Amino acid sequence: MLTVSGLQASYGAIRAVSDISFEVGASKMVALLGANGAGKSTTLKSVAGMHRPIRGSIRLNDQEISSLSLHQVVRRGLAIVPEGRLVVAPLSVEENLALSAYAGRGNEADMLARVYELFPRLKERRRQIAGLMSGGEQQMLAIGRALMTDPRMLVLDEPSMGLAPSVVDQVFDAIVRLHRQGQAILLVEQNAEIALSVCDYAYVLKRGSIVSHGTVEALRGEANLLEAYLS
Ligand SMILES: Nc1ncnc2c1ncn2[C@@H]1O[C@H](COP(=O)(O)OP(=O)(O)OP(=O)(O)O)[C@@H](O)[C@H]1O
Ligand SMILES: [Mg+2]
Repeated sequence: MLTVSGLQASYGAIRAVSDISFEVGASKMVALLGANGAGKSTTLKSVAGMHRPIRGSIRLNDQEISSLSLHQVVRRGLAIVPEGRLVVAPLSVEENLALSAYAGRGNEADMLARVYELFPRLKERRRQIAGLMSGGEQQMLAIGRALMTDPRMLVLDEPSMGLAPSVVDQVFDAIVRLHRQGQAILLVEQNAEIALSVCDYAYVLKRGSIVSHGTVEALRGEANLLEAYLS
Protein backbone atom coordinates (compact mmCIF):
# COMPACT_ATOMS: atom_id res chain seq x y z
CA MET A 1 0.00 0.00 0.00
CA LEU A 2 2.78 2.45 1.01
CA THR A 3 6.20 1.88 -0.54
CA VAL A 4 9.08 4.22 0.21
CA SER A 5 12.40 3.74 -1.56
CA GLY A 6 15.68 5.60 -1.46
CA LEU A 7 14.24 8.49 0.55
CA GLN A 8 16.65 11.33 1.25
CA ALA A 9 15.70 14.51 3.15
CA SER A 10 17.56 17.53 4.51
CA TYR A 11 17.08 20.81 6.31
CA GLY A 12 19.40 23.14 4.45
CA ALA A 13 22.85 21.62 4.83
CA ILE A 14 21.70 19.18 7.53
CA ARG A 15 21.07 15.70 6.17
CA ALA A 16 18.26 14.22 8.29
CA VAL A 17 17.45 11.11 6.22
CA SER A 18 20.16 9.49 4.06
CA ASP A 19 18.60 6.51 2.32
CA ILE A 20 15.47 4.96 3.68
CA SER A 21 13.33 2.25 2.12
CA PHE A 22 10.40 0.49 3.75
CA GLU A 23 6.88 -0.62 3.10
CA VAL A 24 3.57 -0.91 4.86
CA GLY A 25 1.14 -3.46 3.42
CA ALA A 26 -2.65 -3.17 3.48
CA SER A 27 -4.06 -3.64 7.01
CA LYS A 28 -0.55 -3.79 8.51
CA MET A 29 0.79 -1.84 11.47
CA VAL A 30 4.46 -1.04 11.05
CA ALA A 31 6.76 0.83 13.46
CA LEU A 32 9.76 3.04 12.81
CA LEU A 33 12.03 2.96 15.86
CA GLY A 34 15.15 4.94 16.66
CA ALA A 35 16.88 7.29 19.06
CA ASN A 36 16.31 11.05 19.23
CA GLY A 37 17.34 12.68 15.99
CA ALA A 38 17.44 9.41 14.01
CA GLY A 39 15.17 10.88 11.33
CA LYS A 40 11.83 9.34 12.25
CA SER A 41 9.73 12.51 12.12
CA THR A 42 11.45 13.70 8.97
CA THR A 43 10.57 10.40 7.29
CA LEU A 44 6.93 10.71 8.34
CA LYS A 45 6.73 14.37 7.31
CA SER A 46 8.16 13.47 3.90
CA VAL A 47 5.61 10.70 3.45
CA ALA A 48 2.75 13.00 4.44
CA GLY A 49 3.67 15.91 2.16
CA MET A 50 4.80 18.17 5.02
CA HIS A 51 8.47 18.16 3.99
CA ARG A 52 9.74 17.91 0.42
CA PRO A 53 12.36 15.14 0.12
CA ILE A 54 15.50 15.62 -1.96
CA ARG A 55 15.13 12.29 -3.68
CA GLY A 56 13.41 8.98 -3.44
CA SER A 57 10.07 7.52 -4.32
CA ILE A 58 6.97 7.45 -2.13
CA ARG A 59 4.14 5.40 -3.58
CA LEU A 60 0.67 5.10 -2.14
CA ASN A 61 -1.34 2.39 -3.89
CA ASP A 62 1.03 2.59 -6.86
CA GLN A 63 0.66 6.35 -7.23
CA GLU A 64 3.76 8.52 -6.76
CA ILE A 65 3.02 11.09 -4.01
CA SER A 66 6.49 12.44 -3.18
CA SER A 67 5.94 15.79 -4.86
CA LEU A 68 2.39 16.37 -3.59
CA SER A 69 1.35 18.81 -0.87
CA LEU A 70 -0.09 17.73 2.48
CA HIS A 71 -3.57 18.59 1.25
CA GLN A 72 -3.19 16.49 -1.91
CA VAL A 73 -1.74 13.58 0.04
CA VAL A 74 -4.72 13.66 2.41
CA ARG A 75 -7.07 13.50 -0.59
CA ARG A 76 -5.18 10.41 -1.85
CA GLY A 77 -5.87 8.72 1.48
CA LEU A 78 -2.87 9.24 3.77
CA ALA A 79 -3.31 11.21 6.99
CA ILE A 80 -0.69 12.13 9.58
CA VAL A 81 -1.04 12.87 13.29
CA PRO A 82 2.12 14.95 13.75
CA GLU A 83 4.16 15.24 16.91
CA GLY A 84 2.60 17.53 19.45
CA ARG A 85 -1.18 16.99 19.23
CA LEU A 86 -2.24 19.62 16.75
CA VAL A 87 -5.80 20.68 17.45
CA VAL A 88 -7.49 24.01 16.76
CA ALA A 89 -7.50 25.26 20.35
CA PRO A 90 -10.36 27.82 20.25
CA LEU A 91 -12.79 25.49 18.46
CA SER A 92 -14.94 22.77 19.99
CA VAL A 93 -14.20 19.07 19.61
CA GLU A 94 -16.94 18.66 17.02
CA GLU A 95 -15.85 21.75 15.06
CA ASN A 96 -12.29 20.36 14.95
CA LEU A 97 -13.60 17.07 13.58
CA ALA A 98 -15.87 18.76 11.02
CA LEU A 99 -12.99 20.89 9.70
CA SER A 100 -10.91 17.78 9.02
CA ALA A 101 -13.76 16.02 7.26
CA TYR A 102 -13.82 18.91 4.83
CA ALA A 103 -10.19 18.23 3.89
CA GLY A 104 -10.72 14.52 3.41
CA ARG A 105 -12.41 11.95 1.26
CA GLY A 106 -15.14 10.51 3.42
CA ASN A 107 -18.72 11.18 4.40
CA GLU A 108 -18.72 13.43 7.47
CA ALA A 109 -21.53 11.70 9.37
CA ASP A 110 -20.04 8.22 8.84
CA MET A 111 -16.57 9.39 9.87
CA LEU A 112 -17.93 11.16 12.95
CA ALA A 113 -19.76 8.00 14.02
CA ARG A 114 -16.52 6.02 13.61
CA VAL A 115 -14.50 8.51 15.68
CA TYR A 116 -17.10 8.65 18.46
CA GLU A 117 -17.35 4.86 18.54
CA LEU A 118 -13.56 4.67 18.91
CA PHE A 119 -13.35 7.50 21.45
CA PRO A 120 -16.59 7.75 23.46
CA ARG A 121 -14.81 10.39 25.55
CA LEU A 122 -14.78 12.73 22.54
CA LYS A 123 -18.52 12.27 22.09
CA GLU A 124 -19.12 13.15 25.73
CA ARG A 125 -16.99 16.26 25.31
CA ARG A 126 -18.09 17.24 21.83
CA ARG A 127 -19.05 20.79 22.80
CA GLN A 128 -15.85 21.31 24.84
CA ILE A 129 -13.26 23.84 23.64
CA ALA A 130 -10.35 21.71 22.40
CA GLY A 131 -7.63 23.86 23.98
CA LEU A 132 -9.10 23.34 27.44
CA MET A 133 -8.98 19.54 27.34
CA SER A 134 -6.35 17.28 28.92
CA GLY A 135 -3.31 16.13 26.94
CA GLY A 136 -4.81 12.66 26.51
CA GLU A 137 -8.11 14.04 25.23
CA GLN A 138 -6.26 16.32 22.81
CA GLN A 139 -4.27 13.34 21.49
CA MET A 140 -7.53 11.43 20.97
CA LEU A 141 -8.90 14.46 19.12
CA ALA A 142 -5.75 14.73 17.00
CA ILE A 143 -6.15 11.05 15.99
CA GLY A 144 -9.88 11.63 15.47
CA ARG A 145 -9.14 14.53 13.14
CA ALA A 146 -6.91 12.32 11.00
CA LEU A 147 -9.58 9.61 10.90
CA MET A 148 -12.19 12.14 9.74
CA THR A 149 -10.33 12.30 6.40
CA ASP A 150 -11.02 8.55 5.90
CA PRO A 151 -7.37 7.53 5.49
CA ARG A 152 -6.31 4.30 3.83
CA MET A 153 -3.02 4.84 5.65
CA LEU A 154 -2.80 6.45 9.10
CA VAL A 155 0.59 7.84 10.15
CA LEU A 156 1.20 8.51 13.86
CA ASP A 157 4.22 10.38 15.25
CA GLU A 158 4.84 9.52 18.91
CA PRO A 159 1.24 9.32 20.09
CA SER A 160 2.38 8.52 23.64
CA MET A 161 4.58 11.57 24.07
CA GLY A 162 4.05 13.43 27.33
CA LEU A 163 1.05 11.36 28.41
CA ALA A 164 0.56 9.61 31.76
CA PRO A 165 0.90 5.79 31.54
CA SER A 166 -2.82 5.13 32.01
CA VAL A 167 -3.63 7.57 29.21
CA VAL A 168 -0.99 5.98 26.97
CA ASP A 169 -2.81 2.67 27.49
CA GLN A 170 -6.13 4.23 26.46
CA VAL A 171 -4.65 5.77 23.33
CA PHE A 172 -2.93 2.51 22.35
CA ASP A 173 -6.09 0.49 23.02
CA ALA A 174 -7.76 2.66 20.41
CA ILE A 175 -4.84 2.26 17.97
CA VAL A 176 -4.97 -1.53 18.37
CA ARG A 177 -8.74 -1.51 17.76
CA LEU A 178 -8.22 0.52 14.58
CA HIS A 179 -5.62 -1.98 13.42
CA ARG A 180 -8.02 -4.88 14.10
CA GLN A 181 -10.64 -3.10 12.00
CA GLY A 182 -8.16 -3.32 9.12
CA GLN A 183 -6.68 0.18 9.27
CA ALA A 184 -3.12 0.33 7.87
CA ILE A 185 -0.90 2.24 10.32
CA LEU A 186 2.65 3.58 10.24
CA LEU A 187 3.75 4.35 13.79
CA VAL A 188 6.75 6.19 15.18
CA GLU A 189 7.21 5.52 18.85
CA GLN A 190 10.10 6.35 21.13
CA ASN A 191 8.92 3.63 23.51
CA ALA A 192 10.07 0.48 21.66
CA GLU A 193 8.38 -1.80 24.18
CA ILE A 194 4.95 -0.36 23.39
CA ALA A 195 5.61 -0.33 19.65
CA LEU A 196 6.78 -3.94 19.56
CA SER A 197 3.76 -5.03 21.60
CA VAL A 198 1.30 -3.73 18.99
CA CYS A 199 3.02 -3.82 15.58
CA ASP A 200 3.43 -6.54 12.95
CA TYR A 201 6.81 -5.39 11.68
CA ALA A 202 9.40 -2.76 12.59
CA TYR A 203 12.27 -0.84 11.01
CA VAL A 204 15.10 0.56 13.16
CA LEU A 205 16.63 3.89 12.14
CA LYS A 206 20.00 5.23 13.15
CA ARG A 207 21.32 8.57 11.91
CA GLY A 208 19.06 8.69 8.91
CA SER A 209 19.44 5.09 7.73
CA ILE A 210 17.67 1.81 8.39
CA VAL A 211 20.03 -0.46 10.30
CA SER A 212 17.70 -3.37 11.04
CA HIS A 213 14.20 -4.55 10.26
CA GLY A 214 12.08 -7.58 10.86
CA THR A 215 9.01 -9.05 12.42
CA VAL A 216 8.43 -8.13 16.01
CA GLU A 217 9.43 -11.66 17.10
CA ALA A 218 12.73 -11.45 15.20
CA LEU A 219 13.55 -8.01 16.60
CA ARG A 220 12.77 -9.12 20.12
CA GLY A 221 15.32 -11.89 19.57
CA GLU A 222 17.84 -9.15 18.82
CA ALA A 223 17.00 -7.32 22.04
CA ASN A 224 20.60 -6.35 22.80
CA LEU A 225 21.16 -5.04 19.33
CA LEU A 226 17.95 -3.08 19.48
CA GLU A 227 18.96 -1.49 22.75
CA ALA A 228 22.26 -0.39 21.23
CA TYR A 229 20.48 1.27 18.32
CA LEU A 230 17.91 3.01 20.43
CA SER A 231 20.29 4.57 22.93
N1 LIG B 1 13.37 22.01 11.26
C1 LIG B 1 14.62 21.52 11.32
N2 LIG B 1 15.68 22.27 11.00
C2 LIG B 1 16.95 21.79 11.05
N3 LIG B 1 17.25 20.53 11.44
C3 LIG B 1 16.23 19.73 11.79
C4 LIG B 1 14.87 20.18 11.75
N4 LIG B 1 14.08 19.16 12.15
C5 LIG B 1 14.92 18.12 12.41
N5 LIG B 1 16.21 18.46 12.20
C6 LIG B 1 17.38 17.58 12.36
O1 LIG B 1 17.20 16.45 11.52
C7 LIG B 1 17.61 15.25 12.19
C8 LIG B 1 16.44 14.28 12.26
O2 LIG B 1 15.39 14.86 13.05
P1 LIG B 1 13.99 14.17 13.26
O3 LIG B 1 13.11 15.17 13.92
O4 LIG B 1 13.53 13.57 12.00
O5 LIG B 1 14.37 12.99 14.27
P2 LIG B 1 13.45 12.05 15.17
O6 LIG B 1 13.95 10.67 14.94
O7 LIG B 1 12.02 12.31 14.90
O8 LIG B 1 13.83 12.50 16.65
P3 LIG B 1 12.94 12.60 17.98
O9 LIG B 1 12.93 11.22 18.57
O10 LIG B 1 13.70 13.55 18.84
O11 LIG B 1 11.57 13.10 17.62
C9 LIG B 1 18.14 15.70 13.54
O12 LIG B 1 19.52 15.83 13.43
C10 LIG B 1 17.48 17.03 13.76
O13 LIG B 1 18.28 17.86 14.56
MG1 LIG C 1 10.46 13.01 16.04
